[in-house]
Amino acid sequence: FIPTVFELDGHRYTPDSNFNLSPAVTRLFNRKLLTEQGNPLKLIRDRIVEHMHANHRARGNRSPRFTVCENLPRVVSLFDNFDSLLTPADHVSRRPSDTYYVNKDYCLRAHTSAHQYSLLKQGFDAFLVFGDVYRRDEIDRTHFPCFHQVEGVQIYSSEDLFGVQQPGAEISVFDTSDRTALKQAGHTQDTVTVLTLRLKSTLEDLCRALFGSNIEMRWVDAYFPFTHPSFELEVFYDGQWLECLGCGIMEQELLRNAGAGDKVGWAFGLGLERLAMVLYGIPDIRLFWSKDSGFLSQFKGLQPGDDYKYKPISAHPQLYMDVSFFLPEGTTPDNMRANAMDLIRTVGGDLVEQVDLKDDFFHKKKNRHSQCYRIVYRSNEKALTKEEVNAIHGEIADLFVANHGCVIR
Ligand code: PHE
Repeated sequence: FIPTVFELDGHRYTPDSNFNLSPAVTRLFNRKLLTEQGNPLKLIRDRIVEHMHANHRARGNRSPRFTVCENLPRVVSLFDNFDSLLTPADHVSRRPSDTYYVNKDYCLRAHTSAHQYSLLKQGFDAFLVFGDVYRRDEIDRTHFPCFHQVEGVQIYSSEDLFGVQQPGAEISVFDTSDRTALKQAGHTQDTVTVLTLRLKSTLEDLCRALFGSNIEMRWVDAYFPFTHPSFELEVFYDGQWLECLGCGIMEQELLRNAGAGDKVGWAFGLGLERLAMVLYGIPDIRLFWSKDSGFLSQFKGLQPGDDYKYKPISAHPQLYMDVSFFLPEGTTPDNMRANAMDLIRTVGGDLVEQVDLKDDFFHKKKNRHSQCYRIVYRSNEKALTKEEVNAIHGEIADLFVANHGCVIR
């Protein structure tokens, strides 16, 4: 099925026969996990931004060095997603079985690298791009058609890299050397050495800030069309090495095309789900999309810096019911709340997964305070029936009346 128009993020596109988006992917567009309070991806995002802002300042300047870019349009041109990044015409990532196409010129971004060229062209020298990216991947515990990345780019002038130089004793950024397995044509060995050191230390520092100073990491050689040399960083977790980012020295051709050919730089792309799975012990990538309060409530109150390990939630379904009542005279809302939690816990025991005070207000006409609690029931052992839940819930309501003098609404 090919729609006549396709709209996303305030832009309209005209699909053609290349259109291959399925409902399974389009229905993900409305969730914005990176901004959802209580989503571990948002916590990771905050942690990365805090670390980068605190540790990277322009020289002699209080301002954070990296501009944070978010909410960029998720449909990008094939030029931005592939060509500007020097991706060969026959590269596997261009196959319609790998990329979601809107038409022959536009696709869903398959990586945040799709924004490198245009941000460089606009004149940014250092930026972070957060966003959801889309790939027609296999489905398993670590793959999903949508995941989240942060892109980091920093480009340097000669002075940024080597400082103010002594006339006659300059260190050169560029020379006339050839490309080798270890470096690009025209980059001096000094350039490669210093850029690689800065890139690797930036990422090692970031990983230590995320995982603690004891985290084991290793660098592995890699290949990307838009960086050379290229590397991957793996972290040791749960008995195995997990790849969590790709990076490298930016291809000079990309920089030249974007109007920044007099500078050199590095780029990295980091998978946020991978990091969050390691950091919080989350076993399955689908959980990030869960609306299950048993999942979300575990992360809701956390600060980005807090350490936390995820506790598996029951495989059985939740059932929820509300109880609303007027408070008796002389009972403060806070007091009632504490009593309510006790009462619900006492009657419901392990079958109550969560209680939220949904409503808490003074009813002017009745001259009474009103509260409403939503109780989420779920068993670890079995699927609860409606009748079982009704019985428990009824008992709870009765005790609000009998023990606390509440008037059920
Ligand atoms: N875009 C690459 C990916 O998604 C990661 C990457 C970014 C590699 C920047 C190098 C430089 O796999």
